[in-house]
Amino acid sequence: MQKLKEEIGRLLAPRVSLEPAEVISLLEVPPEPSYGDLAFPCFALAKTRKKPPPLIARELSEEISGENGLFWGQAVPRGPYLNFFVAPAAYGREVLQEIWNRAEQYGHSEVGRGGNVPIDYSSPNIAKPFGVGHIRSTVIGHSLYLIHQALGYNSIGINHLGDWGTQFGKLIVAFKHWGDERELKNDPVNYLYKLYVQFHKQVEEEPALDDEARSWFWKLENGDEEAVDYWNRFRQLSLDNYELVYEQLGIEFEHYHGESHYNQMLDRVIDIVKERGIASESEGALMIDLEPHGLPSVMLRKKDGATLYITRDLAAAIYRYETFNFARSLYVVGAEQTLHFQQLFKVLELLGFEWASRCVHVPFGLIRFKDGKMSTRAGKIILLEEVLNRSIEMARQIIEEKNPDLPDKEGAAKAVGLGAVRFGDLNNDRVKNIEFDWEKALDFSGETAAYIQYAHARICSILRKAGAEYKTWDDSSASLLDREEEISLVKTLALLPDKIFASAESYRPSILARYLIDVARDFNRFYHNCPVLNSEEELKHGRLLLISATRQVIANGLALLGIEAPEEM
Ligand code: ARG
Repeated sequence: MQKLKEEIGRLLAPRVSLEPAEVISLLEVPPEPSYGDLAFPCFALAKTRKKPPPLIARELSEEISGENGLFWGQAVPRGPYLNFFVAPAAYGREVLQEIWNRAEQYGHSEVGRGGNVPIDYSSPNIAKPFGVGHIRSTVIGHSLYLIHQALGYNSIGINHLGDWGTQFGKLIVAFKHWGDERELKNDPVNYLYKLYVQFHKQVEEEPALDDEARSWFWKLENGDEEAVDYWNRFRQLSLDNYELVYEQLGIEFEHYHGESHYNQMLDRVIDIVKERGIASESEGALMIDLEPHGLPSVMLRKKDGATLYITRDLAAAIYRYETFNFARSLYVVGAEQTLHFQQLFKVLELLGFEWASRCVHVPFGLIRFKDGKMSTRAGKIILLEEVLNRSIEMARQIIEEKNPDLPDKEGAAKAVGLGAVRFGDLNNDRVKNIEFDWEKALDFSGETAAYIQYAHARICSILRKAGAEYKTWDDSSASLLDREEEISLVKTLALLPDKIFASAESYRPSILARYLIDVARDFNRFYHNCPVLNSEEELKHGRLLLISATRQVIANGLALLGIEAPEEM
């Protein structure tokens, strides 16, 4: 579309006494594709020409009727607009050639100019099972990580582990009272969680446990060796467990800077806050009044000197700015923490940090699993690990049925199973709550990863059958695509760069996910109506170039959602 825009700019500029760039900035995409591909609105000319816009549109169309464009085929006035249609052959060749040349890089760009983008995502709480609540942060955050990278940003994945706080006092107390070394070794995370639950039950009968827990946390904060030892062990055992899930999902973090990482910096943060005079102290507690800004006040330090979640987030934000001088700093965290981030960003602003405006909370709704079976073990918590394994298992059964002779069933089951969970999440606008339905998520003809993956595998199979002689670029074959199904597929393929960009700008991988459904759908419609291998030579070559570009677009798009595109399934 850029070339079409430039051409229209050059064509109209002298006729409307504007610069080509000004013409380009006025161009709009018509509300209906049948109106045209780009529209030039004539309102702005009404004053100088002293004529109604519809008349100007008609006059312009007559003025240019003798001209020949490479990319525009027709210009048709419609009300106050002059609508341009692309010339299918030239446009198709242009788009396909660009995809051909850029291959894996198609859709990527350098708009980010290497700017650092720390992305705080996943961030589970130590000694608690990695529940599905964190799956959304993991999946959305990872996709935003990949998308920013594709746009030339330097993505930095940060796992802001919940590895500090009063719960560690409770865990130490529970382990000292009831702990069993063997059970801890066997299944550390579930066992620690069990102890945590037990503590909360027991404390109702024995309130003294709470004081004990508080004093152990105090010891921990003050570097007591025994307390630190426990904490280290609990943390490491949990991490080892989470890492299995990350490995399965192909996720690596640049940093595992959990909340504890910022302990050394809290005094400095408190000093900065005091210096700027935005806090008030009473009996040792430190508060920032946010009422004048329409937000509840925040406490940065309790009377007993203990710091809070937000104190550590304040330190983390400053640390990230000082370390990365970020272009933007993302926090992929559930919508239930919206208020927390509003307060955090407001405090940064009150501290006078101009970069506060570059900090973005990327919230999302809840996920529920439509399956009673998934909500029993370990209290009410569903383990992500179980969800993933189950999805792979279900995919394996479907593949076994559909394609019993497939050589790499295991690989396909993994790609489809993990893809189903990821896509089931990313396919929805993130702020909505979602109900995850296994049947739907694995439906090969629904709006699913499998549907898109299947289109990809199908194209791979056609390309294999076609043979090597078609694996070359051919200008004249690529210029033959003028059927409606072909043109609309080409137009859809041309949108990938815009969709990737839009996903990053609005922090919504769902834009890319929805788009890939369109690609697969347009491909299926084309394939249903236009024979490929049975067409005559040159057209066959042209159509093979079209589906090969489609394959590339699907593979590039899925990769940015963290989803594999198998060649056979
Ligand atoms: N551990 C927190 C939780 O599970 C999420 C941390 C999000 N990141 C942050 N910088 N606060 O609720």
